[in-house]
Parts: sequence; structure tokens; C-alpha cells
Amino acid sequence: MTGPAASGPVPVVTIDGPGGSGKGTVGRRLAQALGWHYLDSGALYRLVALAAQRRGVALDDAPALAALARDLEVLFEIGPGPDEERVRLAGDEVGPDLRTEACGERASRVAALPAVRAALLERQRAFRRPPGLVADGRDMGSVVFPDATLKIFLTASPLERARRRYNQLKEKGVSANLAALSDEIARRDARDAQRAVAPLRPAADAVVLDTTGMAIAEVVARVRGLL
Ligand code: DC
Repeated sequence: MTGPAASGPVPVVTIDGPGGSGKGTVGRRLAQALGWHYLDSGALYRLVALAAQRRGVALDDAPALAALARDLEVLFEIGPGPDEERVRLAGDEVGPDLRTEACGERASRVAALPAVRAALLERQRAFRRPPGLVADGRDMGSVVFPDATLKIFLTASPLERARRRYNQLKEKGVSANLAALSDEIARRDARDAQRAVAPLRPAADAVVLDTTGMAIAEVVARVRGLL
């Protein structure tokens, strides 16, 4: 038996928002609950930054960075737990290196380059496979999957976002300073929101959810209720 969903385009839920808004955790849990694929698009920008650092490519060398983005040999593995993600770059496990604030900062710089964004566009769209995809990032609903089934834009107060990042880093055994993190997040948000290409902002048809004070399970339930 094939219903309209089976014969139509593969469904996509996009979850965009600034750092610390909960989009990664919510996206992974939602994907797991639905049995769908998951795209962590921020990891792709972080991988470009990391590959550039490893190969000595300058962060303003747009053509070289775009070539790196096109040729990234990357493998994502989810699990065994819902919050566990393993990322391999040319066979090496690089997850911990990707998650540092320094890598996030470099990722935000390479993400402002139109050539890098263009090089990653089709790579991101290739994650759309049956039975469905949950994609998280900054421009998933506005640029990469404009025809998504459901577009969510998560926000949270700057202080709460800094606290979440702080707790995430501490859990991973990375030392962090809350005030410095808060400044770092504000700087990165400003760059991501002010860039000329695909700036961080909700798609016109996105549902905006403020997650300040909400538990993750509550956010996941709200998003599922909208599907
Ligand atoms: O979500 P994240 O912190 O892993 O993202 C790292 C950087 O990558 C972020 O500062 C902006 C950029 N990014 C982007 O420009 N577009 C996306 N779809 C995802 C991330």
C-alpha cells in the first residue's frame, strides 16, 4: 500500500537556531524517535575548518577552502546513545576536535564564505533519503531545504545558551569559563546573523520556539506535535 507520503518527496524537518538553542540535541532525539536520518550541518562547517587547520590552509583562502569542502571525506555514525555522534575525517575520529569553541569560531568564519556554502549545498541535500531527514543548522529551512515538511527555529536567552554550552563542555571533560563562553556565543551569533549569504534568521514559514526553561523532552514533544 502506498500513501501520498510514500510517493511524494522524502519528508524533512529542519531545525535552525543559534548555538546553544538545543537544536543538536533536539534534532538527534527527534531523528531517533522517528527512525529518520540526521544531518548535523554545523559539523560540516567545523570539518572544513579542521581540515584547513590540518593542511595549513588560511581561513580567508576561499577557493582552497571550497575545494576542501567539496572533497571532504567524511563519515557520520550515530549511537549507540541518542546523544552520541562519531565523526570521521579521512578515517580519523575527529569528534572531540570538532566540538571545541576554537573550532566553532573557525567554522563560523569559513561559513561566511559564499564559495564554501555553495560547495556544501549538494552534499547537504544528499542526506535527504527515505524514510525522512531531520536537518539542523542555521539555514536548513531558509536555503538548503526550502520545501521542508516542517521548519522549526529554536531560540533561548543568551544566558541559558551559554549555560547549556558550558554544561555540554564540562560533560565532555573540556574546561570552560561561563563569562568567556557567553562573549564567544554573542560574537559568533553576530557574525552568523550579519553575513551576506544565508544569514542566521528564521525562514518566513518557520515555527519559532523559545526553549528557555524547557526540558529537551518537552521541546521534542512540541516539535513532534507539529508534524
Ligand atoms: O551549529 P554549530 O555550532 O556546530 O555550527 C558551527 C558554525 O557553522 C556556526 O557558527 C555557523 C556555521 N553554520 C552555518 O553557517 N550554517 C549551518 N547550516 C550550520 C552551521
